[in-house]
Amino acid sequence: MILHLLLSTLLIIFTDSASGTTAAYPSLYGEESCGVNLTPHRREVYGNGRIYDISHRYTVDMPAFESLDGVGQFLWLPKSLKNGSIANNSEMKLPTHTGTHVDAPGHFFDHYFDAGFDVDTLDLDVLNGPALLVDVPRDENITAEVMKSLHIPRGVRRVLFRTLNTDRKLMFKKEFDSSYVGFMKDGAQWLVDNTDIKLVGIDYLSAAAYVDLGPSHLVFLEGREIILVEGLKLDDVPAGIYDVHCLPLRLLGAEGSPIRCILINS
Ligand SMILES: *[C@@H]1O[C@H](CO)[C@@H](O)[C@H](O)[C@H]1NC(C)=O
Ligand SMILES: *[C@@H]1O[C@H](CO)[C@@H](O)[C@H](O)[C@H]1NC(C)=O
Ligand SMILES: *[C@@H]1O[C@H](CO)[C@@H](O)[C@H](O)[C@H]1NC(C)=O
Repeated sequence: MILHLLLSTLLIIFTDSASGTTAAYPSLYGEESCGVNLTPHRREVYGNGRIYDISHRYTVDMPAFESLDGVGQFLWLPKSLKNGSIANNSEMKLPTHTGTHVDAPGHFFDHYFDAGFDVDTLDLDVLNGPALLVDVPRDENITAEVMKSLHIPRGVRRVLFRTLNTDRKLMFKKEFDSSYVGFMKDGAQWLVDNTDIKLVGIDYLSAAAYVDLGPSHLVFLEGREIILVEGLKLDDVPAGIYDVHCLPLRLLGAEGSPIRCILINS
C-alpha cells in the first residue's frame, strides 16, 4: 500500500518535470509551489499606486494579429539545470509586432524600410514624457468627428487612447477579433493635421481600425514623426496625465519591437 503510494507520487513528480522540459516556465503563475513559499509576486501597479505597468505579459494565449490560435509557444529552455547544464538559458522566437509593441515607419513604407527607419531610430524623447490617457466614446471607431470631440489641446504630444477594446478585454482573448476599435483614416488624418500628438497609444494590436488598416497606418507613419504603440494594457488606470516611459528593443533592421511601457503618476 505504502509502496504503491510512493510509486504514484514518484510517477507524478516524473511527469511534472518531463512536461517542464518542453514547455518553458511551466509554473508561470507560481501555482506549483509544492508547499514551499516560493511564489513570485506579479504586479500591475508598483510603489503604492505610483507606477502602472501598461505592457501586457507575454503568454502563449495572448492574441496574435489575424490568428485564432494566439501567439503559441514562443519560449523554450534548450539549456536547463534539469538537463545537466550549469544554468537555465531560455530562447525565444516572437513576431516583432506581438503583444504590447511599437511600429516604426518601415512597417508600411517599403522605401523607409530599405532606408533603415527601424525601431532603433525611434525618438526616445517622443516615447518618454508627459502623456494623456483619454477615454474615447465607446460606440464608434476613432473618426475625425471623435478626434474633434476629445478637445485635446495643442501642445499635448503623447496620448493613450482607451477604447471599447479595454472594456471587451480583447487583449486577454486568444482569438483575434477584427471588430476591435481603432483609427479610421479620417481620424488619423485629423490627428496629423490638427494636433501636436507624436505618440499614439492604443489598447489592441493595431492603432488602425481593421477596415482602414493600410490607409490609417500610412497616414500616421508617412511623416516619420508619429510613433504608434499598440496593444497597451490600460485596464484599471484612471484617465489623466502621467509621465509615460516606453522603451523598445534596439532591433537593427526591424520595423516593430516588443515594448515595455509604464505610467508614472506625476
Ligand atoms: C535537453 O537537451 C536536449 C538535447 O540537447 C534538448 O533537445 C532539450 O531541449 C534540452 N532541454 C531540456 C529542458 O530538456
Ligand atoms: C531551471 O528550469 C527548471 C525548469 O526546467 C526549473 O524547474 C528550475 O527552477 C530552474 N532553475 C533555476 C535556478 O531557475
Ligand atoms: C470599428 O470598426 C470595426 C471594423 O474595423 C467594426 O467591426 C466595429 O464594429 C467598429 N466598432 C464600433 C464600436 O463601431
